[in-house]
Amino acid sequence: MSSENEPLDFTPLSVDEKAFGELLDYLRRTRGFDFTAYKRPSLVRRVQRRMDSVAIPDFNEYIDYLEVHPDEFKHLFNTILINVTAFFRDETPWEYLRTDIIPRLVEKRAADGVIRVWSAGCASGEESYTVAMLIAEAFGADAFAERVKIYATDVDDEALNEARQAVYAHRQIEAVPPALLQKYFRSDGDRFVLDKDLRRSVIFGRHDLIHDAPISRMSLILCRNTLMYFNAEVQSRILTRFHSALADDGILVLGKAEMLLTRSEMFAPVDLRSRVFRKLRRDDSSDRFNGLMPVRHDESGTAAMPSHPDMYNIAFDAAPIAQVVVEAGGTVGMFNDRARTLFGLVSSDVGRAFHELELSHRPLDLRSLIRDAEEQRRPIVVKDVTSEAHGREARSLDVQVTPLFDPQGRVLGASITFSDATRVVELQQQLSRSKQDLETTCEELQATNEELETTNEELQSTVEELETTNEELQSTNEELETMNEELQSTNEELQSINEELRDRGEALNHVNHFLESVMRGMRGAVIVVNPELHVIAWNHRSEDLWGLRAEEVRNKNVFGLDIGLPIEQLRRPIRACLTGESDLTDVMVTATNRRGKALQCKVTCTPLMGRTQVQGVIMTIDEVPAASETTLN
Ligand SMILES: C[S@@+](CC[C@H](N)C(=O)[O-])C[C@H]1O[C@@H](n2cnc3c(N)ncnc32)[C@H](O)[C@@H]1O
Repeated sequence: MSSENEPLDFTPLSVDEKAFGELLDYLRRTRGFDFTAYKRPSLVRRVQRRMDSVAIPDFNEYIDYLEVHPDEFKHLFNTILINVTAFFRDETPWEYLRTDIIPRLVEKRAADGVIRVWSAGCASGEESYTVAMLIAEAFGADAFAERVKIYATDVDDEALNEARQAVYAHRQIEAVPPALLQKYFRSDGDRFVLDKDLRRSVIFGRHDLIHDAPISRMSLILCRNTLMYFNAEVQSRILTRFHSALADDGILVLGKAEMLLTRSEMFAPVDLRSRVFRKLRRDDSSDRFNGLMPVRHDESGTAAMPSHPDMYNIAFDAAPIAQVVVEAGGTVGMFNDRARTLFGLVSSDVGRAFHELELSHRPLDLRSLIRDAEEQRRPIVVKDVTSEAHGREARSLDVQVTPLFDPQGRVLGASITFSDATRVVELQQQLSRSKQDLETTCEELQATNEELETTNEELQSTVEELETTNEELQSTNEELETMNEELQSTNEELQSINEELRDRGEALNHVNHFLESVMRGMRGAVIVVNPELHVIAWNHRSEDLWGLRAEEVRNKNVFGLDIGLPIEQLRRPIRACLTGESDLTDVMVTATNRRGKALQCKVTCTPLMGRTQVQGVIMTIDEVPAASETTLN
């Protein structure tokens, strides 16, 4: 076969068959799912796809992973059992069912019968509800409710649960004709809920087509786009079960890429384009007529005579097939021209005992055939007899020995005809070769077609996955967008707070500068303490007098400072300011400046007022000339 004709190969490049077999065995033992009957290339591809998504390259490692993550089974089975389906999927068969099959079914059962339908491999129920709508339309709501049972089965529990809910998104009901949508669905938010009466007639159940016994007495079985996942042997096993599950006039509908069943003994095509077949009963195959009509004389035996007396002989001689007549006594009665040429007979052979002629036993034993034909009183035919007489090219002959009777039924002899079937045999051989070629091509096309269909389904489910991912991404994107906007507004708020703070900072700087200038401009030393008696201001003059810089004293307890000011003497007026007892106290003290020189100082304590309460004490220390040393109170 040329490479052009080779079927497309979808097999992954290299697969560890042993390890893959172990994985299948593990799935069968632990979960009861037997995938060994599924077509290998597609199965391997789908398992590997799942393994890729959990980043496991090796089948044995994947078994370990499944043991540790039982949730993974669900994802794996979802990937293997492709649940792609739709209402009115592939329009052609539905139209044919609507216009031809269902009306006939309804007509037959109109009086009292029950219509039993099986949707095998129903996925999420769209196919089962589609057929339910069509039958309800043809039968009428009451008869439908009373006399129609639709069994919908699948091996996938999750899909069955979805089917049982009978709630679909807008995208899923798009193919439902508007009139049926209006009649059999009600909308609930953005979902569409199937009519409960229609829903009630559909009975869902788990059923494994490979292992479970079929449901019986079906008028119609739909098994679409499911058989193609199984290998040829299992497909034919399931078909045998469908045959026994169907009632005598039952109809089987397959998927558009599935078997043509043109050579099946169990089903005959009703409409190949729609893949609709009818069950064949055992006696359905038309009887073939194998016998040959015996030569008959007319009742009187007096046939009308031709106008020329030699007409019989001339016609006999001119016949294109060789003919020899052997009389009842075993002598050669007559033969025609063609027999002469074919077997080298000569005129003097007429009247000779037939058994003396080579023809009597070669190429086949004609004497026994004559005897049988006469005894059985019927023609005997032997086909494809090879004759190599007289060194001529071998010919293939169909030999017929016909007993001849007189009007009273007595044996007259036998007529032996030899039709040259060489050309026919050649043509037959050619035909059978072409047929075989055609069958092979057909099977290859079928296989390719099924593979393409599977790939198509996979693509469709990938597209759906991508669509879902896309939707997720879109919603994530929307979330991010919202967050972005929120952040942007927070940013704007922060910016305005920042500007306000900057303004306040500038104002504060200004006030600080102002205060610093005031402090710097004062002649006396200034010390300010908070209620905890920690220094919060210490001007230049204080630095100068007591020899400590502002940074050295800030936040230190004023009574802990080692300076020449007798601070203990100020404890009372400071306390009086803090408690609010007094708001101005002058104390004269003798202090020592940083150079060790004794000074007379007047210390004025005033409370540092906050908005409502005292925030500390301001001490201003002025040097008093020695002559005027007095204590003021
Ligand atoms: C592509 S869907 C076909 C759905 C529907 N028949 C259609 O044509 O729209 C194939 C279905 O066959 C089911 N399936 C696979 N193996 C099965 C088995 N061994 N027995 C029963 N159903 C099976 C899958 O679960 C899936 O729901």
